[in-house]
Amino acid sequence: MKSQKIQLARLAAPVVGQTEADVVGLLESPPDPRLGDLALPCFRFAKTLRKSPQAIAVELAQVLQTSQQFGSVEATGGYVNLHLRRQAYAREVVTGIESGVAVWLSQQRGQGRRVAIDFSSPNIAKPFGVGHLRSTIIGQSLGRLLEADGWQVIGVNHLGDWGTQFGKNIAAYLRWGDEATVRKNPVRELFHLYVRFHQEAETQTDLEGEARTWFKKLEDGDAEATRLWRWFIDESLAVFQRTYDRLGVHFDYVLGESFYNDKMQPVVDELQQRGLLTSSEGAEVVDLSDWNMPPCIIRKSDGATIYATRDLAAALYRHDKLHADRLLYVVGTEQTLHFAQVFKVLELMGREWAHNCQHVSFGMMKYQGERLSTRRGKVVYLEDVLDRAVAEAYRIIEEKNPQLVDKQAIAEAVGIGAVAFNDLKTYRTHDVDFRYEEVLNFDGETGPYVQYTHARASSVLRKAIASEGGLGDGLVAPTEPSEEEWQLTLTLGRGPEWLERAVDELDPSLMARYLLDLCHSFNRFYHSIPILNASPEKRSWRLALTRSTQEVLAYGLYLLGLQAPNAM
Ligand code: ARG
Repeated sequence: MKSQKIQLARLAAPVVGQTEADVVGLLESPPDPRLGDLALPCFRFAKTLRKSPQAIAVELAQVLQTSQQFGSVEATGGYVNLHLRRQAYAREVVTGIESGVAVWLSQQRGQGRRVAIDFSSPNIAKPFGVGHLRSTIIGQSLGRLLEADGWQVIGVNHLGDWGTQFGKNIAAYLRWGDEATVRKNPVRELFHLYVRFHQEAETQTDLEGEARTWFKKLEDGDAEATRLWRWFIDESLAVFQRTYDRLGVHFDYVLGESFYNDKMQPVVDELQQRGLLTSSEGAEVVDLSDWNMPPCIIRKSDGATIYATRDLAAALYRHDKLHADRLLYVVGTEQTLHFAQVFKVLELMGREWAHNCQHVSFGMMKYQGERLSTRRGKVVYLEDVLDRAVAEAYRIIEEKNPQLVDKQAIAEAVGIGAVAFNDLKTYRTHDVDFRYEEVLNFDGETGPYVQYTHARASSVLRKAIASEGGLGDGLVAPTEPSEEEWQLTLTLGRGPEWLERAVDELDPSLMARYLLDLCHSFNRFYHSIPILNASPEKRSWRLALTRSTQEVLAYGLYLLGLQAPNAM
């Protein structure tokens, strides 16, 4: 479809006095497929051309008729409606997919430039919350989407491993903790101790002081404090790693906030030299009132640097040392102001590339209808969520397909896929709701539905290969495709456009929505017309469409970070 659109734009642009890109942007799919495969509305051009939309449509139709690409061209009601030459177009789509979906985005707009994606970034000794889950899943998918467009992707896990909190963790552990219990269940136990610290601190006034002393010791490199802090990190990371393995997530760098401890002084010095630092109530800040933002705090009144200071040092490190041209931060909307401040300070520091920094925010997740908050003690452990989703997937598979081999591994792929897809299918910035019944519904708009459709296409192909006719010679497209074949072809042809849009908007949901659409088209095709029992030439073309569908679904699932089992 893409080359047809460009063809059309090339012919139409000079007639209407617009750029080709503008014309491509205006193209629509007619609401009723009988009207055509593409429509160009002419209302926008009326004012500048001083003609009626219909008159412009008629003129355009005459020009477009001269191209061999389009079957019929008609001007009606201010629109030009075009039918593609179906046979040629169908062949183009299927050959395109067969020659490799991985080069779908032929322009490779990233062109080997490097993008650093900060994602997941959970906090040590705290539960890996649903916000971190969203960041992990969206971040992993964005990495794959950008790679598909030629970017060299560096995934960075900016672990929360520094701050006064660790004074509390140490104090609490030394008072009430026990090594064996922590080893058995590190994150839960450490968090439990942390919560207890806050409860007891309400009545025991000395506790806060004790925590401050421990944090001070940690800052000064005290051996005992450092040993415990390291141990908390190692134990927590091992727990997080189990989740990353299950989700198939990989990082190029795991650099916690503490990594920047010795890299902040130069930042503070530079801010000082540039005259950007002012003091405010004992703290050192960068005033941002000209941009209607509260000041960015660099050093607190007690001299301690904070989250923002570390983010400044981290951004400089990613740009200067990791050679990233573009910096993305996949973090919840509640940190919008924080990133706006950090990026503005980078700009004030004369870093041109501050414009290539972007906060890729996302909405909240409600779990079984409830808002979660670690503060209110409403914690849901991600591992439990994954375990339960996998157990439910196992139950469903057992019910639907008891003979299936390797049920446990497939249940794992489906359960995890259900959780991930649910997170990805809604516009990134919208809130999402999580309910087991819904995310695991094999007939709903879910991961299992897409995976199931992929497995169905694989099974048709397996049967074909095992049969006498094999796959046949698939590239003979029919001159008059059936409506189901044609709709499936059109949907297949739209893949690269949706992939490109997902990259442009840094939003995997556009890809997820496209996959759902492709599943609908394929299932309609599968249920309405014979494939394996069709006449030989129809059979081989239908198998070619099935194979294209299977490939695109497998690739799309990969881009979203889901597995694509061949049987379910
Ligand atoms: N650890 C932080 C949190 O849980 C998220 C860190 C995001 N990344 C960053 N560079 N600030 O809130």
